[in-house]
Amino acid sequence: MCGIIGYLGRRKVLPILINGLLRLEYRGYDSCGVSFLYNDDLITVKTKGKVLELKEKLDLLTESTIGIAHTRWATHGIPSEVNSHPHTDFLNNISLVHNGIIENYESLKKFLQTKNITFRSDTDSEVLVGLIFYFYKGDLKEAVLKAISQVVGTFGILVLSKNKREIVVARKGSPVVLGIGEDEYFIASDTSAIIEYTKDVIYLNDGEIALINDQGYYITDFNNEIIDKDIDTLSVTLDQIEKQGYKHFMLKEIYEQKDVIKNALAGRIDLKSNSVILGGLDFINFEYLEKLKRIVILACGTSWHCALVSKFIIEKYLKIPVEVDYASEFRYRDPLVDQDTLVIVISQSGETADTLAALREAKEKNAKTLGIVNVVGSTIAREVSCGIYTRAGPEIGVASTKAFTNQLISMWLFVLYVGQKNNLISIEDRLKIIKNLSSLPEIIFEEINNSVEEVKKIAENFKNSKNFLYLGRGINYPIALEGALKLKEISYIHAEGYPAAEMKHGPIALIDKDMPCVFIVNKNNNYEKVISNINEVKARGGVVISIATKGDVDILKISDYVIYVEDIDNDLTPFLNLVIMQLIAYFISDLKGCEIDKPRNLAKSVTVE
Ligand code: M6R
Repeated sequence: MCGIIGYLGRRKVLPILINGLLRLEYRGYDSCGVSFLYNDDLITVKTKGKVLELKEKLDLLTESTIGIAHTRWATHGIPSEVNSHPHTDFLNNISLVHNGIIENYESLKKFLQTKNITFRSDTDSEVLVGLIFYFYKGDLKEAVLKAISQVVGTFGILVLSKNKREIVVARKGSPVVLGIGEDEYFIASDTSAIIEYTKDVIYLNDGEIALINDQGYYITDFNNEIIDKDIDTLSVTLDQIEKQGYKHFMLKEIYEQKDVIKNALAGRIDLKSNSVILGGLDFINFEYLEKLKRIVILACGTSWHCALVSKFIIEKYLKIPVEVDYASEFRYRDPLVDQDTLVIVISQSGETADTLAALREAKEKNAKTLGIVNVVGSTIAREVSCGIYTRAGPEIGVASTKAFTNQLISMWLFVLYVGQKNNLISIEDRLKIIKNLSSLPEIIFEEINNSVEEVKKIAENFKNSKNFLYLGRGINYPIALEGALKLKEISYIHAEGYPAAEMKHGPIALIDKDMPCVFIVNKNNNYEKVISNINEVKARGGVVISIATKGDVDILKISDYVIYVEDIDNDLTPFLNLVIMQLIAYFISDLKGCEIDKPRNLAKSVTVE
């Protein structure tokens, strides 16, 4: 949530800040701003709206080589110029960009007002800069330390003061990474903003504060004890975070699914022994599995849908009971987990506040934790006991697509890995599954090419619909939920997903000619039952869009539109149906002219609770 970037070095700062904000805009995009030092003065320019509007207000050739910037996802106060960051104290001595939430800002504000410190915005962040100003006696780091000791809440902050070439960076709960160049430093909320300048980075942990100036940098904890940190090397490339000719990142990322699956499997499958090698799961041995009573999977949004699919495959192949919970609910109900529970958290960003809090709750209760995470070095990735990186590459579109696919691939790898450890999956079955997983990239490639025209036709016909129903059964019921989520988040069309059999318990009342119903109806155990559900819709004048198995001609008789997917093992059909869901949402939204990569009110990583 919110993107922050700062720079101190020898280059002109404004192009670097604007470029960084453009890369970070997917994290929040209702307003933005920059502060920089110019002739020892602190200049701040802000705008309600997108980064390109801010760029128009700036002279990029300005001779300044130090500054901070922010793109906002509003929490406190409406999106407006005055509420946007950077925030300065009322005398314009100190400027701050903040990602996170200051929970006790109201009481702090009242206190500061009694000290004649005034405020212009409705934000919690302005209170923090007011507090730093209150403590400031010439030593910025000391003032920041005093201020944050009073704060309840979360923050990733960059602070700049008038007259001095230094930036103070602190983290509690919101990610900050320090990029190290040659005599120059880049600080950002995520690495996409800085990878074109440096690959050498230091991730700050919670409770750490850095001071950066022309002489270098040093990092301490909040008690001022020096901390020696390793420098990590980024493997992400610039190409991976650019659109490469696609109209939107989301479309690029849908197409990329065929490639990222290969990445997720690469080096993890030994075809000679048909076994899976996962270096990050060392603790899972036979003794551990013997004691393991249950698995709890925690996630939010699309990652939660992946968790629901995962329950089917874990229970089927590993015979271990699985519970799936919203991460946001888990921690508030005194959950029953202990050392014999494996808690799996799934998160693309690895920074989702709800998931992180749930992970910490599980650790408190001595559960072993395993992360399925996309962003390398993210907070969740660093805090779990062990994990599997999903290797989907940077996902920029706010609507998650390729990340889901690779979360599910990772879950299959987990199942195969545990299955081979406890001898629950025979070598023949492992061979079959591995072969099937390896064939997915080719199948998905063909599927996208073959279905795009039909999906576009459907999009044209239904772009003005007000509601959609998505229905599927068994392992594909979570895919129906995901289809509905994708559509609503990027097209703003109301959509509901249900297990198909639930339709008759209520949603059927909604069926009429204006309600398109998307059915997932692959040939499998539940096929006949779903056909009955389709008939129930047709009998009530509803419109049916079926996603069916290639060769199923009967489905044409009861559907208004059919999109065919390959006939593969039922357990793998979610991969194929998912892609169609993504394409339907994408093309409807595109025809409606929606801002697909940056849908209103959303942000890529939700770092507030
Ligand atoms: O980064 P995470 O996977 O933890 O994010 C969880 C959700 O916020 C995320 O999946 C969200 O629902 C997406 N916008 C869905 O497209």
